[in-house]
Amino acid sequence: MSDSKLTGRHSDGDLEFNTSANPSLSDVIAERQSRRQLLGGMVAVAGLFGLSACGGSDDNKSAAVINAGQVGASTSGRVVTLNGSATQAASLSWTQVAGPSVTLSNANTPNPTFIAPSVAGTTNLEFRLTAVDGQGRSTYQDTLVTINPAQLGFTAVAKNKNDIVTVPEGYSVSVLYRMGDPILSGVAAFANNGTDTNFAGRAGDHHDGMAFFGLAATGTARDANSSTRGLLVMNHENISEQYLHVNGPTLVSGARPEAEALKEIEAHGVSVVEVMQSGGAWTYVQGGALNRRITPNTPMTLSGPARGDAQLKTVFSPEGTMARGTINNCANGVNAWGTYLTCEENWAGYFRRASGDNANRSAKSVVALNRYGLSQGAAGANNWATVTAANAADQWKFSKWNTTVDTTKAADGTGDYRNEANQYGWVVEIDPYDANSVPRKRTALGRMGHEGAWPANFVAGRKPVFYMGDDSRGEYFYKFVSATPWSAADANATDRLAIGDKYLDNGTLYVARFDATGQGVWLPLVFGTGVLTAANTTYAFANQADVLINTRLAADVLGATKMDRPEWAAVNPANGEVYLTLTNNNASNRPLTGTNAANPRHYNDPRGTTNNFGNPNGHIIRLREAGDNAEATSFQWDIYAFGAGADLDATHINISGLDATNDFSSPDGLWFSRSSNAGGLVNPLLWIQTDDGAYTDVTNCMMLAAMPGRVGDGGARTITNTGTGGATATQATFVGKAPGMQLRRFLVGPKECEITGIDSTPDGRTLFVNIQHPGEGGTPTTPSSNWPYSQSGTTAGRPRSATIVITKTDGGVIAL
Ligand code: FEO
Ligand code: CA
Ligand code: CA
Repeated sequence: MSDSKLTGRHSDGDLEFNTSANPSLSDVIAERQSRRQLLGGMVAVAGLFGLSACGGSDDNKSAAVINAGQVGASTSGRVVTLNGSATQAASLSWTQVAGPSVTLSNANTPNPTFIAPSVAGTTNLEFRLTAVDGQGRSTYQDTLVTINPAQLGFTAVAKNKNDIVTVPEGYSVSVLYRMGDPILSGVAAFANNGTDTNFAGRAGDHHDGMAFFGLAATGTARDANSSTRGLLVMNHENISEQYLHVNGPTLVSGARPEAEALKEIEAHGVSVVEVMQSGGAWTYVQGGALNRRITPNTPMTLSGPARGDAQLKTVFSPEGTMARGTINNCANGVNAWGTYLTCEENWAGYFRRASGDNANRSAKSVVALNRYGLSQGAAGANNWATVTAANAADQWKFSKWNTTVDTTKAADGTGDYRNEANQYGWVVEIDPYDANSVPRKRTALGRMGHEGAWPANFVAGRKPVFYMGDDSRGEYFYKFVSATPWSAADANATDRLAIGDKYLDNGTLYVARFDATGQGVWLPLVFGTGVLTAANTTYAFANQADVLINTRLAADVLGATKMDRPEWAAVNPANGEVYLTLTNNNASNRPLTGTNAANPRHYNDPRGTTNNFGNPNGHIIRLREAGDNAEATSFQWDIYAFGAGADLDATHINISGLDATNDFSSPDGLWFSRSSNAGGLVNPLLWIQTDDGAYTDVTNCMMLAAMPGRVGDGGARTITNTGTGGATATQATFVGKAPGMQLRRFLVGPKECEITGIDSTPDGRTLFVNIQHPGEGGTPTTPSSNWPYSQSGTTAGRPRSATIVITKTDGGVIAL
């Protein structure tokens, strides 16, 4: 053959190859093809395209005439359409001749499509169109498509306060899984008028961290590569209690009605729910074989070094080895072996502790409870402990939320709930592929207000590492380094929780100290070393279990760096760099003089006429481990981006130079696209979700996509901060290169929501995102949002947290 590759074109669904008003190439071809019909036959076609000897045949008198199209170009992750044509052909087929392998859809038609593969530099793919005529004679022609590395491929969404989810042109949104949707067989449809019951069989409220776990066609076995069927596992962090009851929550003679409290309790926890794609649409499957709800009442085991410790003994588990339930599940982690990590965040607020309780406790116990926000006199957020259960066997579900010492019960805590608060604040591992499995609380990862537990990239022979924010103002950033190097074969084990035992029950917990030099140190929380001994005057640590149960106290005495509310962490799948959202801080927690290099700003972002001093817009810090090894005990850091309105001072507040296409406030959710598709390779996509109260006078909460650079791509900077009364102070820090066009707003949510929780199918072509607490400030009679009903134009109905599905209209990888 001669391989002239004369012709060809492609369509990737974009117009970027010609933005002029001139006719597009496809228009030209269509016009020529109509002329071809006028002229009739093969000779005319060949003449028009200058075809001479561009392919080959086994008979130079072959009757079929083909055209494989002209050379075209696209970028990784986009849909490419080959534009062949043939006349007098009995059959035709496309095959790939050269370049990174792709899957051709509709390969036996003139216009097959494929997803442009991930490439690190300009790469040619070659395809061959072969036609066979009625007499069995074949002819073929080749064409080239040039693929360039992935780039952000969408137009930024404008800030807005609409009561819908807004996504870029070329994308669609559908609502998949709403608060109250029935997931177990036999559970009634959700009326959403406050009369519904049985939340242990429904989607919980306040969807948060979430992951997609692929399912095989059987619907019961794991297939990590499936992009059409799987399990969504998600956290239900909290509740909008006003919408759960007919007229909101009630208190009768000082006590909560049992049914109300039970509904609120069961609306917390975790969902495992089957989802599938059929006919291009995603639905959840009521009655799916692996569907389950995990609630604050679900039995769990305590695992790791603190298991059996005296501080974990309760009336439920006198041995201190079991716990009942999980609550305020915020962000998450996903293990290479197919399990889910759910993280207990603001659990302390649910507990009651009577005034005068200190007198009945040891001095250490009082120090510990106070450090975790459980001072005596705490009322408990929902008054669940006030319930008198109709059936005495159910009383524990309510009484356990009162952690007051009962002086008539055993001093070791086995007769009451005095130690119940120590059962929360952990990272919990769940095997979604076994609906009967008992979740395990992994005490080696420490006890705190766990936001998430995101793993470093799993590398054979290196110890798995998990990054964890403790979400409260002035709290710390942690990592856990397993004691056991990773064995890749464990990714496919079937006893997944046993693999969790192997990697998550033994290891070293560290807390971060960010130094003014731009370097940082991981400080080990190991009993018996340094100040972590019984001689410590802040808190006399008794053993490693005591260090883990009182992680915050241990981090305090080690001198860790206080941060501006550490939220999610994410790890760049291509280079291992770690990103951490620091959502915001205020002047009362961190005054003008309280900045440090890693938390450097203090300024005013007024809302209307109300001053808002501190760091109300938050920032995203990132670090690179020494030697690019997650096990390292030191790192380099800089600040990837500072949240700010584009209108704020460009020198000292809007330091990252954000503009109307990407200004944001209060970053919270954070996630890198999966490395199983072009979105997570070469220059992976970073997704940023906001949970904001500072910029909501201008816009609802949002999600942005970015292609970040690397730690150190900017430089040192000294900021002048301004506090109340015009006082100023300077703070030196390290700022990454301004993100510019490589950071772009992808989504704006409905009214009064937070955007949190994100995953995709392995192919990156379906994105799942959670919309949490729309209309959180409204009432049952006057809801302040009607989402998700408003998404389809209905302006009535109580708002519901929900999972949405985002797809690109042409089927390409999201955001590319
Ligand atoms: Fe549950 Fe820190 O957000
Ligand atoms: Ca969060
Ligand atoms: Ca939040």
